Amino acid sequence: MKMVENIVPDENNIVLELGVGTGAITKFLQDAIPNEKSYLGIELDRNLVKSLKEKFSELKIVRGNARDLEKIHQKSGLGKVGYIICCLPFVSLPNEIGEHILLQIDEFMKRGCTFRTFQYAHGYYFPSAIKLREHMRYRYGKSKRSPLIVKNVPPAYTLTWKT
Ligand SMILES: C[S@@+](CC[C@H](N)C(=O)[O-])C[C@H]1O[C@@H](n2cnc3c(N)ncnc32)[C@H](O)[C@@H]1O
Repeated sequence: MKMVENIVPDENNIVLELGVGTGAITKFLQDAIPNEKSYLGIELDRNLVKSLKEKFSELKIVRGNARDLEKIHQKSGLGKVGYIICCLPFVSLPNEIGEHILLQIDEFMKRGCTFRTFQYAHGYYFPSAIKLREHMRYRYGKSKRSPLIVKNVPPAYTLTWKT
């Protein structure tokens, strides 16, 4: 699973998953997470959070808006964020919320962090997808892009930036 490749979190370099959804990625991340102090998940949908908490009872999954991600992280009392796995649907997020989230991601990047997201091949040139890549490229250089993952439905790339 490309999204979790080379993710090696610990208490001082935790993994922050944004838009945990049904936990399709979390299921794979779980094996890399050494203990409950090395992971924080944020998901907006109340029902999804309820079932995530049942599925991953040992992980800290918070119902909240990624717009407040710095506050949520601070409140969690967990360590520095070393990895961000971002599954947020930037296409459907209101512009100002998307921008606000990216600015907060910058704060984690300043402290040394790996940011990874995926973009569907069919949406690769959507304005919101380009905007995210430009935001990151301008600050952190060219992404490390995976080959097209055709096994994914729909096919997608993973994009990684590291500071
Ligand atoms: C593409 S899906 C997640 C895919 C995920 N890997 C899975 O296993 O389902 C995007 C998720 O982001 C959540 N989401 C959307 N906007 C959000 C926001 N502002 N803050 C937190 N989560 C959000 C949605 O509820 C949805 O579950």
